[in-house]
Amino acid sequence: MPGAPAPPKVGSRDKWKVSVDPASHEKMALVPYDDTAAWGMQKLHKSSSTYCFANHTIEIQQNWKQLGVAAVVWDAAVVLCTFLEMGGIDLQGRLVIELGAGTGLLGIVAALLGAQVTITDRKAALALLESNVQANLPADIRPRTAVKELTWGRDLGSFSSGGYDFILGADIVYLEETFADLLETLDHLCSEQTVILLSCRLRYERDHKFLKMLEERFSVYEVHYDPGNDVHIFRAQRKAQKADL
Ligand SMILES: C[S@@+](CC[C@H](N)C(=O)[O-])C[C@H]1O[C@@H](n2cnc3c(N)ncnc32)[C@H](O)[C@@H]1O
Repeated sequence: MPGAPAPPKVGSRDKWKVSVDPASHEKMALVPYDDTAAWGMQKLHKSSSTYCFANHTIEIQQNWKQLGVAAVVWDAAVVLCTFLEMGGIDLQGRLVIELGAGTGLLGIVAALLGAQVTITDRKAALALLESNVQANLPADIRPRTAVKELTWGRDLGSFSSGGYDFILGADIVYLEETFADLLETLDHLCSEQTVILLSCRLRYERDHKFLKMLEERFSVYEVHYDPGNDVHIFRAQRKAQKADL
């Protein structure tokens, strides 16, 4: 399995900036402005990357130049796929939603591992996401997946409240202005039984701030750390509400 792109870590943050998606005028995220910044950047520019999970070869189309962060596979996704495949969690027959799916690798792997998966991202990411899902899932598994627009904090009423067994997110904690919306989204989607799995590269102080915000409402444990990729996997579950006295 080839490694996923490794963007510069803390220390080389000056190589990154927040770009604006011309179509939506929304901030797309950290996009490098010095193309020669790191060898890892070359991987981001590849038009496809190939993985092997759940006995399937998965070829993901990428389009960094036009779509930025949503259109490449990040290390955090590969690490969480590996965790799931190694039996970290049994997804067979479970209801799963993925947030900020990007190219869709994680959602595809969750479906291959037996889950019924709603794979979501912002509107600008959906065309590439949908085509990767269609291209990589066998016909008998495709009906167990749906690709839907979900911008955190918006139109949450179109998603079942508390109706998911698992919420997955890979490398979705990175923009401070989205933290409150992301938290609201998790809150909406979760019941006390729902398990959230977030794989994160903690690049900045603000990323730790999100974890602190999460801990106010959820019990959060680190269940895995991959030192080679510097990716943490956190498991979170809503704290039980205290009964009224
Ligand atoms: C670093 S990429 C990670 C993509 C993918 N999960 C992976 O690990 O390969 C962050 C993803 O979060 C999505 N995202 C950022 N802000 C968002 C928001 N406000 N609502 C929904 N998705 C968002 C981006 O579109 C992008 O796909």
